Amino acid sequence: MNNFDNINVAIIGAGRWGKNHVKTANGLLNPEQITVCDFSENAREVVASINSKINFTTDLDSVINNKEIDAIIIATPAETHFGIAKRAMEAGKNVLVEKPITLIPNEADELLQLSLSLNLKLMVGHVLLFHPAVLRIKDGIENGEIGKLQYIYSNRLNLGAIRSEENALWSFAPHDISVIQFLVGDNPIEIQANGGAFIQQGIEDTTMTFLTYPNNIKAHIFVSWLHPFKEQRMVIIGDKGMYVFEDSLKTEKLKFFPKGFKEVNGVIEKFDADYEVIEFDNRMPLAEEQIHFFESIENNTTPRTDGKHALEVLKILDVATQNLKR
Ligand SMILES: NC(=O)c1ccc[n+]([C@@H]2O[C@H](COP(=O)([O-])OP(=O)(O)OC[C@H]3O[C@@H](n4cnc5c(N)ncnc54)[C@H](O)[C@@H]3O)[C@@H](O)[C@H]2O)c1
Repeated sequence: MNNFDNINVAIIGAGRWGKNHVKTANGLLNPEQITVCDFSENAREVVASINSKINFTTDLDSVINNKEIDAIIIATPAETHFGIAKRAMEAGKNVLVEKPITLIPNEADELLQLSLSLNLKLMVGHVLLFHPAVLRIKDGIENGEIGKLQYIYSNRLNLGAIRSEENALWSFAPHDISVIQFLVGDNPIEIQANGGAFIQQGIEDTTMTFLTYPNNIKAHIFVSWLHPFKEQRMVIIGDKGMYVFEDSLKTEKLKFFPKGFKEVNGVIEKFDADYEVIEFDNRMPLAEEQIHFFESIENNTTPRTDGKHALEVLKILDVATQNLKR
């Protein structure tokens, strides 16, 4: 059992995603340690249905000015992230902000510099970096299980949810970019993107982003909300084997394929064997994310998805967006 008795957290925004943060915090902390702030009175009922002892307010100022609160989780729409995060840090609070950290890199950089100068934690909710399967893949790559990393691709496809305030790239791809950045451990030297807008003018329903990393590592990300079925598949290819991670499956989510090609006496030969299912702990990524945030505050450690990581992901989104608009 975790002991975060010294943490008092406020969750700003209890909408579709924010209510998951409230439920998760309710499982980790006493309700007296949690305050939820949302403009909407509807959110009050949602929060009360999770735990009637959780404090609720519609007044953001009262949260920012509350000296007892040392950690803030921001789960409001993306365009509000910068303003709320900045005010929260200026009031001395550690911040976990949902993805995307901000809408433009300059703002993310300003938050990063603020967190460094005030020695506060700034973390972004790239929840897949707390998924036990992704951590298992990272370990496997570092231990040489698939040999030299060569190629990664991610398909994040579904019929919906269509948004009008952002395109499919901004809605879905931050997760894939964050995982690819984490697995490669480097920044791309080339970014290209293409897409199509069919339902709403100027809002891409489908995009394809190509990333080139140093050491001849390549990646692409295909996202779409105009697709007949849900698919969340990431394939990671090395010169000794391959992983396939399909979070949309009910079982056998992570597989290792000992497949590929090798040179024998100057001849390229295929090696091909049955896949093995890799088991991993069934821990909830969002709970792991919050625990990581609270631990980084208590132990003064740098979060895995810190402001620097968030800024790099945002820069990739920004260049891909410029490509799309060209
Ligand atoms: N990590 C993930 O997997 C994941 C998944 C979905 C959404 N998200 C992110 O979570 C954020 C919220 O998305 P959502 O789908 O829950 O949005 P939403 O519109 O359903 O909810 C936003 C809530 O914030 C409230 N709000 C807005 N401005 C506020 C303010 N200034 N102060 C207090 N409350 C305010 C609204 O009343 C609403 O209840 C977005 O950044 C989104 O990208 C992350």
